[in-house]
Amino acid sequence: MNLKNFVLTQFERLNPRLVGAVEKPLKAIPFVNRRLEQEYAAIMADLEHELKPYRGEFASYARLPENGRAPADILADIQTLTHREEARWKEGFVSGAVFYGDDDHIQFLNQAANLAAASNALHAHVWPSASKFEAEVVAMTADMLGAAHTPDDICGTLTSGGTESILMAMKTYRDWARDTKGITQPEVIAPVTAHAAFDKAAHYFGLKLVHIPVDDNFRADWIAAKNAINKNTIAMVGSAPTFPHGMIDPISEMSALAQEAGIGFHVDACVGGFVLPWAEKLGYHLPPFDFRLPGVTSMSADTHKYGLAAKGSSVVLYRTPELRRYQYFVVTDWPGGMYFSPSMAGSRPGAAAAATWAALVSIGQSGYLERTRRILETAQFIRQEIETMPNLRVLGDPLFIIAFTSDNFDIYRVMDRLGQKGWSLNGLHKPSCIHIMVTNLHTQPGVKERLIADLREAVTFVQANPQAESGLAPVYGMAASLPARGVVGDMLKRYLDLLYKV
Ligand SMILES: Cc1ncc(COP(=O)(O)O)c(C=O)c1O
Repeated sequence: MNLKNFVLTQFERLNPRLVGAVEKPLKAIPFVNRRLEQEYAAIMADLEHELKPYRGEFASYARLPENGRAPADILADIQTLTHREEARWKEGFVSGAVFYGDDDHIQFLNQAANLAAASNALHAHVWPSASKFEAEVVAMTADMLGAAHTPDDICGTLTSGGTESILMAMKTYRDWARDTKGITQPEVIAPVTAHAAFDKAAHYFGLKLVHIPVDDNFRADWIAAKNAINKNTIAMVGSAPTFPHGMIDPISEMSALAQEAGIGFHVDACVGGFVLPWAEKLGYHLPPFDFRLPGVTSMSADTHKYGLAAKGSSVVLYRTPELRRYQYFVVTDWPGGMYFSPSMAGSRPGAAAAATWAALVSIGQSGYLERTRRILETAQFIRQEIETMPNLRVLGDPLFIIAFTSDNFDIYRVMDRLGQKGWSLNGLHKPSCIHIMVTNLHTQPGVKERLIADLREAVTFVQANPQAESGLAPVYGMAASLPARGVVGDMLKRYLDLLYKV
């Protein structure tokens, strides 16, 4: 019996609400636990082949080599590995993940990073260039997101990515609310579609995340947000747009609510920060989403996504320097000296700051405008084509992240079929659907047409083979619907264990 059947027979017939109560005691029964472990091991053994394709082909190390290898030899290995993986994303087969592809830009970023490879932004006195780069990236991002239209001194810091930006904003609100309002049981209101990084922040920083639903159009139900505010609420979250369905939450309504309640309001523009300002300039009618709205007190915008910098950089912004100070961490009586750091990391790679600065300054306003135009046109084409397919349904009214599902067949099987053709789209759930986050790579000639042709074929295939059960679809289907969330969580943790196997 495979894990799916085993788990289903153990748990699935139970009422989902009951499962929550019985899952833990059931797993504590030695037989059940042993059996689960066996089933996990079988699944992981299958996955191991997929995740460790280089075993036996390239030298691998579980301990330091006796003597160092020749640099040329090492670089040759890295180059071969990189080249093998490159074609898939460079040819536009991947949703999101990589946001640029042209060789000149990549080489330029690499050069910038190489030049600053030794620098550490933690030591600004040694590398003032690193703080110059960080400060200017923050200022340029703030300017793009409405700083020029408010008398407030919008400010922020550079971080390692969207998740760190979100973690920092949530920690900031926790410390601000404790200091200024004495709140010790902090709650944050977030739509169910807000990025998982908010769950992570709640987990790390002891916050209660109060989820509110979304409407039929997958936008936050702001009336529910209003009803969820209480004396422990420290902040509210909206996305512009959301990761799953690419929808912009009702930011102005939420901004007004937050302002009236005197709580923070974080707009997660990790994905949209470097797209929406340009979309507006291109004439797309968008609701306001940034610091032009007075209730917006912080934002995140990822330079390493549509900002077209290399991975490892994002910006978190605050309405005031006073608020930003709650993000900082200082220790004044450590034998190691005065310690002060703005964000999660201690040492911060000056290379990331330099490459990010290089990306922003090299592309400039006209560059982002032109890239946004191409991305939005491509996304519109994809959306319209999907809308012509009788058994597919686009969710919401998206701009450049197109989520779709089917009421007639298992959409994860379409994802599997596309996977066989090289595509890597994202599988989502609640409701079951898949999405493509359209990037510059999809604007290359022929990519969008190839996607649509492959999608049509995949739909035809799935309709013609309604019973076939293979690939990831059953696993996805199970993971999405299984009421025993602890079992799903166990599997994900074992998957992470697997990644660290040599
Ligand atoms: C809306 C949104 N917020 C936050 C994040 C987290 O960003 P990162 O993966 O850079 O940590 C993502 C990632 O896709 C996102 O789509």
